[in-house]
Amino acid sequence: MHRRLPPTVLLTASAALGSAVLLLSGAEPPMFYAFALSIFLRAFPCWREDGFRGTLDAVPRLLMFAVAPFRGLAAGALSIAAGESLAALSGQGGRGRFEPLLTALASATAVPLAFASPGSPIWIAASLALLHAGPAAAGSLAEGRMPGKRFLVSGILTLAAAAPLAWLILQETSLHGVLGTVMTSIPLAAFTAFAAVGQKNLRAYQERTTGTAVQNTLSAELSASRSIPEFMGILAGYLSGADDMDLVLLTRQSAGQGWIGWTVSSQLVLPEEETAGAGSVVWNELGHGASIRGTRGCLLGLSPSGDMVLFVSGRAWRTIRSMDVELRSNLVSLISHSWQAVGNSMTIDEAFIAAAIMLARLADSKDDYTHGHSLRVARLSDRLGRRLGLSPARLRTLRVGALLHDLGKVAIPTEILTKRGLLTRDERAVIEKHPSEGARILGALKGYDEVRAIVSCHHERLDGKGYPGRLFSRDIPFLARIVAVADTFDAITSRRSYRADADQKTALEAIRAASGTQFDAKVVGALEEMLDDVARDA
Ligand SMILES: [Fe+2]
Repeated sequence: MHRRLPPTVLLTASAALGSAVLLLSGAEPPMFYAFALSIFLRAFPCWREDGFRGTLDAVPRLLMFAVAPFRGLAAGALSIAAGESLAALSGQGGRGRFEPLLTALASATAVPLAFASPGSPIWIAASLALLHAGPAAAGSLAEGRMPGKRFLVSGILTLAAAAPLAWLILQETSLHGVLGTVMTSIPLAAFTAFAAVGQKNLRAYQERTTGTAVQNTLSAELSASRSIPEFMGILAGYLSGADDMDLVLLTRQSAGQGWIGWTVSSQLVLPEEETAGAGSVVWNELGHGASIRGTRGCLLGLSPSGDMVLFVSGRAWRTIRSMDVELRSNLVSLISHSWQAVGNSMTIDEAFIAAAIMLARLADSKDDYTHGHSLRVARLSDRLGRRLGLSPARLRTLRVGALLHDLGKVAIPTEILTKRGLLTRDERAVIEKHPSEGARILGALKGYDEVRAIVSCHHERLDGKGYPGRLFSRDIPFLARIVAVADTFDAITSRRSYRADADQKTALEAIRAASGTQFDAKVVGALEEMLDDVARDA
């Protein structure tokens, strides 16, 4: 990566070098004017986002004017190509290695235009327009894109600006003297000013594009979040929110009904009087001097209806305040859009959980003795998962997996499932198919591989003596190990067809005895802690 030189240095150097070459070549005054005009026109892009261009390549333009009439067209084109290459080498080219070549080709077309009829200002202006817009358009074509409208606009502007000036230059009047002085002295000062403007614009542009890039990532992350705490956590990270109350997303159904506030860790129910001013915040605007539950901050309107507001305080407040209007307005739309998207997917999620609960009941209903088993296993797995520090997303997977762990039982004949007494070898083999049956039933569900793994592995043992895969510890997913412990604990503590009731102590002893061989010691540890806590609280 080439280090970019400051445009002020490049512009001043190219103007000084150009003037020196003109002086040394003994060029006529019109050449000075043409040079000044050309370099002045090249300074135009400084107003635009790509202000770095149009610096070094002003030098070959000058060379073209100085050399072309005397040394032929090839020399002019070559000098421009050399200058473009120089620009590319100094990190100013920016459009890949083809551009110098394309510029040379554009110049080779423009140069004859300029000098075929030197007396015509329109010809000169047209050639300048082609020189000005041609290489950039050619650069676009080299990248496989059609040149944008701005190249056409740039060409027309150049034509409009250059024609009268070229006409003046070509007039044999006393204006020459005035113009000569003005046009050779102004550029040096103008370049510096343009460069400064260009630099400022470039910085603003870079900030804007960087901000936009960050917001694009933010948008993707927010839309992919699977829970409100996760959503708020991502937003708090972006806005440098430190405390929980630094960022509260407020929503309400209708005016006067109070607000629901969402922070990273909690959901608040806020009456209207606790959220003074929230209802009057205009979409996209900052409302100052707000306070929620004693925390001072400001409000940002997130929806045109005024029923969705972001409360920010502390560092998050400072971040929002320092944003430029455009960036803040983008932020507002992306938060409200992704909030709606997340809201929708969470509704779908809830529907899925409801369906999973129904399926779990269906599986349990095959055997009266396992009534409510899957729901209890899901609840217990969840408590163990929390103790083991799982993320909200993993906890959700764990709950669904635990709910559906015995789903495969719907495919097992009821008479085998509910048989009292000892099972034959064949009957046991049929029962042992239920984990794979469950995974098979879930087979069509996209994005639930981890849930499927829990279902198919919940009877595997660390020592490889489990079923159906006889997997060893390293191949058994951690979530399945949690469900295995919860499943066994509930099976022992609840009434089952083949075992009488047993209390929690007996269940824990049985599980502890199999810790490290059948069960994961870490999960067993979490179960022990949990039961200790329950006993202490009781
Ligand atoms: Fe099972």
